Amino acid sequence: MNNRGATIIAENGIILSDCLPQLSGKETITEIISGIFSSPRYIPSRFFYDDAGSLLFEKITQLPEYYLTRTEKEILKENAPAIAGNLSPLDIVELGSGDCSKISIIFEVISSGRRHDIGYIPVDVSRSALLKSAEILSGKYPEIKIHGMLADFLKHLNDIPGNRQKLICFLGSTMGNLDTEHTSRFLLDIRSIMKKGDQLLLGLDMVKDIRVLEDAYNDTLGITAAFNRNILNVVNLYAKTDFDPGLFDHLAFFNTAESRIEMHLRASTEMIIRSPYFRYPLRIEKGETIHTENSRKYTSGVPDEISRLSGLSLKEVYTDKKRWYSLIHFECR
Ligand code: AVJ
Repeated sequence: MNNRGATIIAENGIILSDCLPQLSGKETITEIISGIFSSPRYIPSRFFYDDAGSLLFEKITQLPEYYLTRTEKEILKENAPAIAGNLSPLDIVELGSGDCSKISIIFEVISSGRRHDIGYIPVDVSRSALLKSAEILSGKYPEIKIHGMLADFLKHLNDIPGNRQKLICFLGSTMGNLDTEHTSRFLLDIRSIMKKGDQLLLGLDMVKDIRVLEDAYNDTLGITAAFNRNILNVVNLYAKTDFDPGLFDHLAFFNTAESRIEMHLRASTEMIIRSPYFRYPLRIEKGETIHTENSRKYTSGVPDEISRLSGLSLKEVYTDKKRWYSLIHFECR
């Protein structure tokens, strides 16, 4: 156990370590403000996930255009026995756990007799998503011990409790949010908390027809647009700004050179943004954009590349019939 600075709370029998800074945390405010005053302007993607944002993302995962979650679950279902077949005792760590529907697929193939030896450690920045999923899971799988972590998986890997054998799951192509530099650092950090025999399961979205990629981020119901705009509500909360999300258009396109979907918010009119934390008001011109997300799309060389970057051994690559998505299984030897 190594919960430096974390507050431990127990709600409904679920243990939760809170590693996140306070709402008024200086670091967070500074991070947001420096992003929106930068050129080009940006807001870090993790600020999507307040309660409303987590719910909107859950809706996205159910959209017909958003093939990622559906495809990943198919691959998980098919290969869960090979992945979790005979590991126990075991701590399953899920980074960016969100709703609990993916990990259930793995729990299902662990016989109820073996579940006593399983611990589940979901790590997420959304308290409501953590509590909701922990509650559902503890109802469905009462034998499994759950210890949630309200944390940013980029910063708090060292606070992950437990010293049994680990299966670390980083699903949903969430790693695709990171740029090259952060990806290498993150992989080395992950490697540093793994011991011999520990495993990593990494879900990554692959390059495919541009239309399919762009449709997944431009759904006809406008849920992704609402998700994108909601980040301004989160910014308003932390940085006490007065952004009107309704004044921004949703923009999502595939950047071929960088092999990533980019999401931006484009000002439909000029505006002045104020905050008690600003030294001077922020003027945004009509047509100016704020970069809110990168979602990297990978090619077939990525398993070997990650193995090289992290020092982890490649065990298996699982994919779907169309090869739209990859689940990559690594082991620490
Ligand atoms: C959760 C980061 C993997 O990039 O596809 C969905 C987030 N953004 N629609 C992704 C997202 C817009 C998602 N990740």
